Amino acid sequence: MPSTKTLFVCQSCGSQSPKWQGKCPNCESWNTFVEESTTESRHSTLKKAPQQPMTLDQVSVETKAFATLPEVDRVLGGGLIPGSLILVGGAPGIGKSTLLLQVAGKVALDKPVLYISGEESEAQTKLRSERLKLQSKGLLILHEISLDAILHHLESIRPALAIIDSIQTLYKEDIASAPGSVAQVRECAGELLRYSKNLGITIILVGHITKDGTIAGPRVLEHIVDTVLYMEGENHQAHRMLRAFKHRFGSTQEVGIFEMTGHGLMEVKNPSGLFLSSRAESPGSVVVPILEGQRPLLMEIQALVSRSWSGIPKRAATGIDFNRMAILLAILEKRCRMNLGQSDVYMNVAGALKIREPAADLAMAMAVISSAKDTLVPLDWVVFGELGLGGEVRAIPYAEERLREAAQIGFKHAIFPEANQLKETRSGSLIARGVKTVQEAMDLLFAK
Ligand code: TYD
Ligand code: MG
Repeated sequence: MPSTKTLFVCQSCGSQSPKWQGKCPNCESWNTFVEESTTESRHSTLKKAPQQPMTLDQVSVETKAFATLPEVDRVLGGGLIPGSLILVGGAPGIGKSTLLLQVAGKVALDKPVLYISGEESEAQTKLRSERLKLQSKGLLILHEISLDAILHHLESIRPALAIIDSIQTLYKEDIASAPGSVAQVRECAGELLRYSKNLGITIILVGHITKDGTIAGPRVLEHIVDTVLYMEGENHQAHRMLRAFKHRFGSTQEVGIFEMTGHGLMEVKNPSGLFLSSRAESPGSVVVPILEGQRPLLMEIQALVSRSWSGIPKRAATGIDFNRMAILLAILEKRCRMNLGQSDVYMNVAGALKIREPAADLAMAMAVISSAKDTLVPLDWVVFGELGLGGEVRAIPYAEERLREAAQIGFKHAIFPEANQLKETRSGSLIARGVKTVQEAMDLLFAK
């Protein structure tokens, strides 16, 4: 017999409580508890005799990944593993449906693929596929939001790949709450997981992200699936990044880089100079070679130091960790005798990119000094290195690769950590100078 129970579930993190609460004790968000009554049916699907344990050599595995688009495969470490469940998250309008329809079209050239959209009708999907110039006539599309119907189709069609756009539109009939609620999303994803493992179908789920950067409602999803990919970028700019946040079958280091065009997302084969095209030629701008996965990308850091008109100077950072910026400003005050107490400081990474590497520390510091002194950093210089609290410049990985890339783009000078002990400080026509401290770097760039 199914049993019905009433629970209050936080729509942000999925934690449960028998009574309503104003503030979630788990994720600390306010007013997120919603009453959900769930009927716990014994799982109706795929009734099988209990599995027998077996020895490792008896287990047969089909782990041969199949290829999708090259940039997606790069992030996935080779392609899609049969029977895996993948979540692709991103803000609305970023290009998730476009990317996945392109993936579906590519895989459908030689494998059965089912593309299920709960958000767009078959006709809308068809129009999109025409815009993308998809060649695969055999791609199956379906407009459906009922989980039971979808499971039925999965079982009868047995596609190699099924794409569900989006998980927030699905509903399972015996759960009382609305599509998109934590209970629905969790149950639907759980059922799909069982199906993907039992039938060996690779399933990709699309998930919308809320403003604060979590998959709308349920972070629980991140635990259920094998792989979580996020699509990042700005709606008003053309480039998009695909990044693995969790990956059960490989590294989470690689990023895929695309450009949104009139005919869908195109891979960017040589992205290293992509983000420098509209570079500011003004004080406060410094270029740093950042490593994204195996690829060095040159990014422009911008700082603006201006006189503060309020008692408490303002600091703001986009694309850079705010605490990291605060530490760097303190290092500059202490070690370089910069007086920033009466100045507002704003920092930004051009192109709406995010920098997560400490290798950008020294470039950030030089950008601040450049703006504060109103002195241009010559346009053919790159700067990289991690900063310690004592103002010492620490070694960072892959210094040679970064120099090589900068040289290839046409930079002529570089500042790098002396601690890296490079044997070769020339790369093409680029000359690199090692520094031990932040003051040394400052003297190199600004002492006149
Ligand atoms: P979409 O894939 O619908 O985003 P999501 O599924 O993440 O919500 O992409 C929407 C945006 O992409 C929309 O602003 C239009 C744009 N776009 C192009 O620029 N070129 C194209 O070929 C397509 C299909 C969409
Ligand atoms: Mg969409």
